[in-house]
Amino acid sequence: MKNILITGGAGFIGSHVVRLFVTKYPSYNIINLDALTYAGNLENLKDIDQSPNYTFEKVNLLDVAGLSSVFERHNITDVIHLAAESHVDRSIESPLDFVHTNIVGTVNLLNIAKTKWGADFSKHLFYHISTDEVYGALGAEGLFTETTPYHPNSPYSASKAASDHFVRAYAETYHIRTIISNCSNNYGPFHFPEKLIPLFINNIIHKKPLPVYGDGLYTRDWLFVKDHATAIDVIFHNGKIDDTYNIGGFNEWKNIDLVKILCKLMDEKLGRQAGESEELITYVKDRPGHDRRYAIDATKLNKELGWAPSVTFEQGLAQTIDWYLENTTWLSNVTSGAYQNYYSSMYSNR
Ligand code: NAD
Ligand code: TYD
Repeated sequence: MKNILITGGAGFIGSHVVRLFVTKYPSYNIINLDALTYAGNLENLKDIDQSPNYTFEKVNLLDVAGLSSVFERHNITDVIHLAAESHVDRSIESPLDFVHTNIVGTVNLLNIAKTKWGADFSKHLFYHISTDEVYGALGAEGLFTETTPYHPNSPYSASKAASDHFVRAYAETYHIRTIISNCSNNYGPFHFPEKLIPLFINNIIHKKPLPVYGDGLYTRDWLFVKDHATAIDVIFHNGKIDDTYNIGGFNEWKNIDLVKILCKLMDEKLGRQAGESEELITYVKDRPGHDRRYAIDATKLNKELGWAPSVTFEQGLAQTIDWYLENTTWLSNVTSGAYQNYYSSMYSNR
């Protein structure tokens, strides 16, 4: 019997992982632990939240007694840990929030797992979800492999790197069985509209400026979120213990090229004149410490575990745009109120 704790399941990627596990594995109990910060939204899960093998627990990673009680009450056998502060721009404004959730929160979770599973680690797995941003920035050439040295440049990536190190240290020191995966930028449904793709889709819908940082020539490697979820499924079940896997789809785009494609597709979908949305592109002040290029070499995951992405970028982007156009209520709910205040303070000087 598996009772799997998925943390951050009300967020963007976590909600796709929860949905996949709840529907694909009816014999597993899935316990979604989430503090419901600005990024957590139970609406993301309303299609599956009545499933008999699904439970939600509103608990903060900093609440040690709350975490312990969840482990006890649900007899947690495995952890897939996604809960995190995840936005680089917010980490530049408030680094300590990232230290608390991403570092202290992860160590709290490791401590509980160590205590509860201590008698026999062999039946348990602590799977930590991380990012390619821990590797730092690439120049024009090369890819991040699993052996690329960590060189985080933002408070976000530094906090994720620290959490990865703690997971590795707990495996080495206490013999908890762990796996870490480091994925490239995700996109898709339920993505909070503070990140590039959903923010720009929302702004195009409302004919608002599209703030491109710096020269727009920064490169990101984009993976459809449902493909990240299937990779997590494969790694959780078949990954080598105490190993790490890079996840990505060999899909690099310069920001400005991606934004132009988005504008073109949105003009077509919205029946606007060709070129209309591109006029919204506005170059703004650069992000401090902006990493020039990320690109993942996912060969190991493909060779060892046979995983490959299921959609092309064109298909994934089209599905994503369609989803946002069909879910305008979701979009307006998450962009109202407090988020608006955040948005104006974040962009007032850019
Ligand atoms: P997200 O910001 O959409 O969701 C994070 C979730 O964690 C939210 O539901 C939030 O309520 C919850 N959370 C935050 N602080 C918490 C706390 N203290 N206690 C309990 N819950 C808390 O993030 P995401 O984009 O879905 O990312 C999920 C994970 O994947 C993160 O660990 C992130 O570092 C990693 N990752 C993200 C990407 C990406 O492109 N988004 C790429 C690679 C790796
Ligand atoms: P983002 O979605 O924040 O992801 P990350 O910083 O984790 O890669 O940003 C993706 C890229 O888009 C990054 O190079 C920063 C850039 N960007 C903009 O140019 N304008 C924006 O308004 C945002 C949010 C990001």
